[in-house]
Amino acid sequence: TVLPPISNEPVREYPPESEERMELLAACARVRSETVDIPCVINGKEVFTGNTIEQRACSDHQHAVARVHLASPELIQEAIDTSLSVREEWEQLDFEHRAAVFLKAADLLSTKFRNEVLAATMIGQGKNMFQAEIDAAAEAADFYRFGVKYANEIYAEQPAHHAQHVWNRVEYRGLEGFVAGIPPFNFTAIGANLGATPAIMGNVVLWKPSENAALSNYVVFKALREAGLPDGVVNFVPAAGPTFGDKIVSSPDLAAISFTGSTRTFNTLWKGVADNLDKYKTYPRLVGECGGKNFHYVHNTADLDNAVYSTIRSAFEYQGQKCSACSRLYVPESMWPEFRDRMLDCMRDIQVGEPDDFKTFMTAVIDEKAFDKIVSYINYAKESSEMEVLAGGEADKSVGWFVQPTLVQSTNPHSKLMEEEIFGPVITAYVYPDDQWEETLDLVNKTSPYGLTGSIFSADRSVIDTGLKKLRHAAGNIYINAKSTGSVVGQQPFGGARRSGTNDKAGASSYLARFTSMQAAKECL
Ligand code: ALA
Repeated sequence: TVLPPISNEPVREYPPESEERMELLAACARVRSETVDIPCVINGKEVFTGNTIEQRACSDHQHAVARVHLASPELIQEAIDTSLSVREEWEQLDFEHRAAVFLKAADLLSTKFRNEVLAATMIGQGKNMFQAEIDAAAEAADFYRFGVKYANEIYAEQPAHHAQHVWNRVEYRGLEGFVAGIPPFNFTAIGANLGATPAIMGNVVLWKPSENAALSNYVVFKALREAGLPDGVVNFVPAAGPTFGDKIVSSPDLAAISFTGSTRTFNTLWKGVADNLDKYKTYPRLVGECGGKNFHYVHNTADLDNAVYSTIRSAFEYQGQKCSACSRLYVPESMWPEFRDRMLDCMRDIQVGEPDDFKTFMTAVIDEKAFDKIVSYINYAKESSEMEVLAGGEADKSVGWFVQPTLVQSTNPHSKLMEEEIFGPVITAYVYPDDQWEETLDLVNKTSPYGLTGSIFSADRSVIDTGLKKLRHAAGNIYINAKSTGSVVGQQPFGGARRSGTNDKAGASSYLARFTSMQAAKECL
C-alpha cells in the first residue's frame, strides 16, 4: 500500500502570550477543577462500575483529576468475549482501513485532542509543558503513524525464492486470541502504543491503563474511537493490577501481553503464563520493557559542559521517572571537582513547581508510594558511611509529592544506590581513578542486572570504541556524547534486554512483528 508521507510530529513551543499557550493553560485549568469519571468501555458501551479509585494531581494531591471505574473479573471476561467476537472481522478488513483509522487518530491527537491530552498528562502525571509535548502530543501520534508504516513494510515482505513451478507466499495474520496491553504511568505515548498499536496488525486488545495515567489514556482512547475504530477492537479496561493479571493469564484465549513496568510485575505475569501453559490455544507472546539502572560514563576526554548538562537533563527531567533516566554516574577523579561544582550550580537553578507554570523544570513525583520509596533511598544515603548527599535530599508531601533533585556521591561502586532502581530524581556518582577508565567500563557493565540505557561521554574514538565493545550488552539503547533519555520513534528503536525486558523495541518494526503470525503458502503451478 502506498501511504501518505510519514514523519515525526513537530514539537510545539507555546510561546509566551501566544494563543496556543492560552488554550493549553485553559485546558490545564479545566483538569485542575474537574474530576472526570472514567468508565470501562466494553464493545463501545461505557460501564461505570462504581468500584472506583482516584487519580490525583501530583502537585496538588487534594484534587482528584479522575475517578476511575475499575472492572470486576466478570467485566474483564466480557471484554475478552466481546473482543473475540469482533476479532475476525477486524483482522480480515483490508489493511488500508486499519491504517486509515490509526493515521486519523494520530491527526486527531495532534490537533483536536492535543490540548486535552497535554493537560491530562501535565496535571495528571506531573509533566511540565515540554515533557508532556514530546510524549502525549508528539510520541503518541508517532507511534500510530510509524506503526502503520512498519506494518506496511512487514506486509510487503515475501519469500524471494521459488523452485520451478512453485509460487511461495506468506500471509500475515493477526494473533488468534486477544492481546493485553498493560502500560505504565510515565508516558501517555506508551499507553497509546501498548493499548492500541497491536490492532494495526489485525489484533483485538484489552487496554488496561495505569490508574495514575487513566485520564490521558482515556483521551487517546476517545481519539481512536472518533477516528472510527470499531467497537470492541480495543476495549478500555481500567482494573486493579492483580485482578486484571489473574484474569488474562488464566484465559485460554490470551495471545500476547504487551507490558511496560516493573521487572517484578513482568515476572509475575510470566509465571502466571507458565502456570497456565496447558490451557492456551496458542503460545502467548510476551513483550516487556521493565526496570533499569541507567548509566552515564564520563571519560576525561569528554566535553565537560555537554556531559554535565546531559546528566542534569537525563537524571532530573520528569523527576527521573523515565525508564531511561540516568541514575548512576561515573566520573574520573581529575574531572570530578569541576564536574561536581557545575552539577551543583545547575541544580541550584532547577525550578521545582507546578506543571502548568512554564518556568518549571521539575514537578512532583507520581504518587505517595513513589514519594515514600524515593525518600527512603535518600534517607538510606544520609545514614550510610559510604555515601554523602551533596545536593537536594529534601522532600515535602504536604501539598504535592515534591522531591528536590538530589545528588549523592558513593565511595562504594556497589552501594544500594548505585545498584537499585529508584525511579525518582536521585543520581549517585562514583568517582574513579583516571587510569582505571577501562576497568571502570567493566564495572559499569557488571554493576547492574538491567540493560536498558546508558551513555558514554568522550572525545576519543578509541575510548568510545572500547566502551561500545565492553558495554555491548549493558544497554539496549546506548548514547555517545548524548543523554540517555529521549528516544524518538522511527529514529532510536527503544527497549532493553537483561532484566530490562524482551528488547522488542518500541518505535520500530520489530515491535509490530511480535503481533503477527505468519502463514506460509506453497502453491504448485
Ligand atoms: N523512550 C523514552 C526515552 O527514551 C523512555 O526516554
